[in-house]
Amino acid sequence: MSYKILVLRGDGIGPEVVGEALQVLKIATRDASIGLDFKDAPVGGHAIDSFGTSLPDQTLKLAKECDAILMGAVGGPKWDNPQAPDRPERGLLALRKELGLFANVRPVKTVKELIAASPLKPEIINGVDLVVIRELTGGIYYGKPSERRSGAAGREAVDTCFYTEAEVARVLRYGFELARERRKRLTSVDKANVMASSRLWREIATELSAEFKDVAFENQLVDSMSMHLIRRPRDFDVIVAENMFGDILTDEASVLAGSMGLLPSASLGEELNTAGLRVGLFEPIHGSAPDIAGRDEANPLAAILSGAMMLEHSLGMKAEAEQIVQAVEAVVHAGHRTRDLGGLGQRAVGCIAMGRLVRERLESQMPDA
Ligand code: NAD
Ligand code: IPM
Ligand code: MN
Repeated sequence: MSYKILVLRGDGIGPEVVGEALQVLKIATRDASIGLDFKDAPVGGHAIDSFGTSLPDQTLKLAKECDAILMGAVGGPKWDNPQAPDRPERGLLALRKELGLFANVRPVKTVKELIAASPLKPEIINGVDLVVIRELTGGIYYGKPSERRSGAAGREAVDTCFYTEAEVARVLRYGFELARERRKRLTSVDKANVMASSRLWREIATELSAEFKDVAFENQLVDSMSMHLIRRPRDFDVIVAENMFGDILTDEASVLAGSMGLLPSASLGEELNTAGLRVGLFEPIHGSAPDIAGRDEANPLAAILSGAMMLEHSLGMKAEAEQIVQAVEAVVHAGHRTRDLGGLGQRAVGCIAMGRLVRERLESQMPDA
């Protein structure tokens, strides 16, 4: 028996960073009692080019059958025509929805050696350790109507932010339970002073907090939250937010860690896989970075750490995941830097070299079988 892993490399730097992550995963799991069986499928822009759709039926079928999904990123200028009937991003959104991946877990931690890579002051970011739980299958991304049309005054367009009580409670409960295992603080983010969906969100968060009296709870408006997050990031432990609020806050939070090229994520659903754990899709929080694609400049660490999150959350391979995290930390500790981490000129390490350094370190850490 082996675990079935679907690999969605995607567009731009997606294939570059996933390639490195896969090689790392193969080493980390080579002595595991249950092996990993990787299968590739198309999604996003190159799927539109080859199959006329950003999420081919066969890809969705494989996604529903596998134990976990490792993904790169989708999108790019080639597919950015606003009138196009399909977009690379639609494939990813449909996949999240079809698999019910409602909780997007995005950990943000500062690494001592990388504090200089952040434009923020060391005394502000030293010791940051927080997790953003982004609601991933509802809210403004999925509400209907969502369309462009022509109205009496010309072109118009509409998006709708819609949530049911059950959707809001489910993701907040996940956050409260996680907070219980951590520093027992939860911040619920909304825009309750303006939006009806946020007022429902706040009501449910506040009700639920009564069930978790051991967790210090607060509501925060998203606009001031984006300021608190970079002025006093150490005050936060678990942050739970609506789909788009969580998307925006986590790109901002990547500056605390040093770069988007460092932040992994896990998108988890309710269904269990053959390991008896939540089915999940694991991907960096960054995108396809068209500005550096094909130049061997991308930082593969976010993808490699996403692979570690996959081992831990969906496959129950905690020790193997820990080995990967340790190898990444050791490489960073030794001073190796991709460009986004402040690696300069000739001394900057490329995507391939960074992947190789992590693998070499992993090999040296792993006990002989
Ligand atoms: P982006 O995250 O792709 O890039 C933002 C900036 O960060 C760029 O300057 C890029 O070079 C840099 N960067 C990102 N990842 C990096 C890495 N691993 N190493 C070094 N530098 C890195 O965001 P964008 O430019 O706004 O979007 C580009 C495309 O990616 C769009 O089509 C967007 O829809 C898509 N996107 C996809 C995903 C996903 O598939 N999950 C996520 C975000 C954006
Ligand atoms: C992300 C991305 C996606 C999102 C896009 C590509 C659909 O920004 O995963 O953070 O907005 O969810
Ligand atoms: Mn994003």
